[in-house]
Amino acid sequence: MKQEDNKNLYTPEKAKIIEIKQMTELEKFFRIKLLERNTLGHKPGQFIMITVYGVGEIPISISSPPDINSDEFELVVRKVGNVTQALHNLRENDIVGIRGPFGTNFCAENFKGKDLLFIAGGIGLVPLRSFIKQVLTEHNNYRKITILYGAKSPKEFLFTNELEEWNKIENVEVKITVDKPEDGWKGNVGVITTLIPPLEIDSENTLVAIVGPPVMYKFVILSLTSKNILHKNIYLSLERRMKCGVGKCGNCQIQHLYVCQDGPVFCYEELKHLKEAI
Ligand SMILES: Cc1cc2nc3c(=O)[nH]c(=O)nc-3n(C[C@H](O)[C@H](O)[C@H](O)COP(=O)(O)OP(=O)(O)OC[C@H]3O[C@@H](n4cnc5c(N)ncnc54)[C@H](O)[C@@H]3O)c2cc1C
Ligand code: FES
Repeated sequence: MKQEDNKNLYTPEKAKIIEIKQMTELEKFFRIKLLERNTLGHKPGQFIMITVYGVGEIPISISSPPDINSDEFELVVRKVGNVTQALHNLRENDIVGIRGPFGTNFCAENFKGKDLLFIAGGIGLVPLRSFIKQVLTEHNNYRKITILYGAKSPKEFLFTNELEEWNKIENVEVKITVDKPEDGWKGNVGVITTLIPPLEIDSENTLVAIVGPPVMYKFVILSLTSKNILHKNIYLSLERRMKCGVGKCGNCQIQHLYVCQDGPVFCYEELKHLKEAI
């Protein structure tokens, strides 16, 4: 590797926050403009390392679909600790550092001509949205597209306007559920796995993409297995503590796998024998 490439891997480049929206009590949406190149060149499921100068650097998934003609991209950040709090305190026109995009991706080519089942739990919709939006721009290349999305309560749903728009597309069906309803909620109540048994699934021709909290994967996969979905057709994204993002520090390691480089998107077939993975 050339010295120059090395520098790009480890040195954040400057980018400008051009839009911030409060989405829920804990989540903010950020639109970011690159200042040092013309496009991010990412694929769905990949992440960037974002630096709040003077505070620290964290991995965050890219939520917008790939667009080689744009120098902007979108993130959604949940406030949980030091760096995410500092990001929430920033204002439009503030400068952040970014490295990446890094990691593996949901490869749309593999999914073409198939039935697609997207399963998002909570903030898991953020990386899946990048893939969903890419697929929906050419939805006729896929057969039936089903999107299942669960949140703890109705006020935690993200991108509700987009979910409504997606549901209007002819071969797309969106189903949402909440763990705990609030007054006025008329939709499904129950964890996300309650949405799976009623689905009519062509098990050999359905590919699944799942992103959600770790506790969700085990139960979702059990439910998909009982529907005879092949494990080689299930893709999911793992979250681990990351420092370097590029396979050097070992912080994200699960046995021989580096989640930052071999993942975060994995085929379930590759993970199912690793006890620590799910
Ligand atoms: C590939 C990848 C993509 C991610 N995408 C997003 C995203 O799109 N939006 C978003 O809001 N967050 C995302 N995260 C999580 C985000 O990186 C962490 O919330 C962040 O690093 C927390 O930093 P902090 O300094 O604010 O909190 P800290 O003070 O470091 O931690 C606060 C709390 O969060 C827990 N925590 C921190 N990092 C992780 C992690 N990686 N996995 C599980 N628990 C963690 C800690 O154990 C602690 O309880 C992603 C993580 C990874 C690995
Ligand atoms: S984060 Fe450093 S090796 Fe993965």
